[in-house]
Parts: sequence; structure tokens; C-alpha cells
Amino acid sequence: MRKKVTIRDFLKKKGKEKITMLTAYDYPTSRIISETELDSILVGDSLGMVVLGYNNTQKVEMEDIIRHTSAVARANPPQLMVADMPFLSYEISVEEGIRNAGLLVKAGADAVKLEGGVEVVDVVKGITKAGIPVMGHIGMTPQKYLKLGGFRVMGKSEEEAELLVEDAKVLEKAGAFAVVIENTYADIAEKITKALNIPTICIGAGPSCDGQVLVIHDLLGFSETKPYFAKNYINLNEIIKNAVSQYSNDVKSGTFPSKENYKDRAN
Ligand code: KIV
Ligand code: NA
Repeated sequence: MRKKVTIRDFLKKKGKEKITMLTAYDYPTSRIISETELDSILVGDSLGMVVLGYNNTQKVEMEDIIRHTSAVARANPPQLMVADMPFLSYEISVEEGIRNAGLLVKAGADAVKLEGGVEVVDVVKGITKAGIPVMGHIGMTPQKYLKLGGFRVMGKSEEEAELLVEDAKVLEKAGAFAVVIENTYADIAEKITKALNIPTICIGAGPSCDGQVLVIHDLLGFSETKPYFAKNYINLNEIIKNAVSQYSNDVKSGTFPSKENYKDRAN
């Protein structure tokens, strides 16, 4: 097994080598990813949508992320493991934010991620001060989709674009070790990437970022719909459907179980 990826490795990669990140929510996925060269695993609160079937991420609770972080951690992945702080686990007070970030570290996370810019500066500082690395997340922040007026591309107006650059800068100053930029225009992500010393990890924000993150269900063709910024590398929906149909046919036709699948006391 290769050496554990640290936040220092993340910082060193900026400007030299792209950083790769994917979500994972369970032990088997983590076990498989462990055997790859991927740099980082995110136990994202996208869990709520792609695994638990909610239509947004607001219903995800601390206990969900704790349980799934523990499951991912049990495979001892060499990847830097980041766990998402769910909606309302860090907005109420800095103290609650630190306590909840600590619970994710105790579950096995190497770092936490939370959404927002200027409005989360104090809690980013507090969690960092407690010794827990924080990844920022700006642009289209799904936990705030009600306030944003839906899942949309951010930064169309010059004012919105400037706010995004400002958000990124204050997160770096508050101590964040990296920042996810989600669903914004490529030129804005490029501007942010150049303005920061910490790496930018993008999803739907173009090719100029320091790294890329995707929801693994989108990569595998295992989600209901594919966002325009994702790429299917296989179609797991079809593969699973075909396997289930074949199994069903085999049982009904008596093809399964066959001799190698059971023990016969006579021989
Ligand atoms: O929850 C998640 O999967 C995320 C990524 C899309 C960045 O936050
Ligand atoms: Na998330």
C-alpha cells in the first residue's frame, strides 16, 4: 500500500500536478479506490441524494456522515479522506462546528469540508485552530440551494463573480488548505486558482483548477441523471439491470443454482 496522502502533499501539488478526488460512501468502494492512484476521497453529503434518495442535501445528518465516514475509513485508504460537514452542523455556532468536525475526525476523516465563503470565516478559523484541516467549498453550494434560487451556475453577473473571488481569498486567509469550486464559469475558477496559494478543486468549473472532484455515482453511470459537468466511464445502471434480469431468468428457468453452487450429500 502506498504512503498516506497528507494536506502538505496537496499544497505541494499546486501548479505541478493535478489533484484527483472522488466521493465514496462505503467500505467496498473505499477498498477498491485504495488500490488506485487517486489522491483523495470525499465522504460528501451528496450521500443524501445518490445513496439515500433525498432530492437535496439538507436532510443529511451528522450521524449519516459519521456512519459512512467510519465505513470508508475501515478500508484504510491511503487517500486523503475528507468528510463533509452536513447542513446546520457548523452554521449555528463556532463551538458546535468544532465539536462536529471533531466527531468526523474521530470517525476517521483526515479533514472536513464545509460550504460558504465570508459567512463561515469564524468557524473555519475555529476548526483549523483545533487542529482539523478545513477544505472550503464555494460557487454553487447545494446546502444553500433555497437561498440561491435552485441548483444554478454561479457568477453570471460581475458582482457575483467578484464575490466568489472574495470568498476564496477569505477562506485561504482563515486557514483553509484547499477550496472546492462548484458550478461556475471557467474564467472565474481560473482567476481564483491564480489568486490563491492553496489548491482549487473543481466540479463544473473548467480546466484551469488545481484539481478535479466528481461524485463517483456520476463517473460509474450509477446515478439517476448525469450533470453536464460529469463524465460516465461505464454504465453501471445497465450492467446491474442486466445482471438482475439474468439472475431472475436463471432462477425461474432452473439454470441457477447449478451443480457448483450447492453440495450434494450423495457425492
Ligand atoms: O457532496 C459532494 O459530493 C460534494 C462534491 C460535489 C464537491 O460536495
Ligand atoms: Na457536499
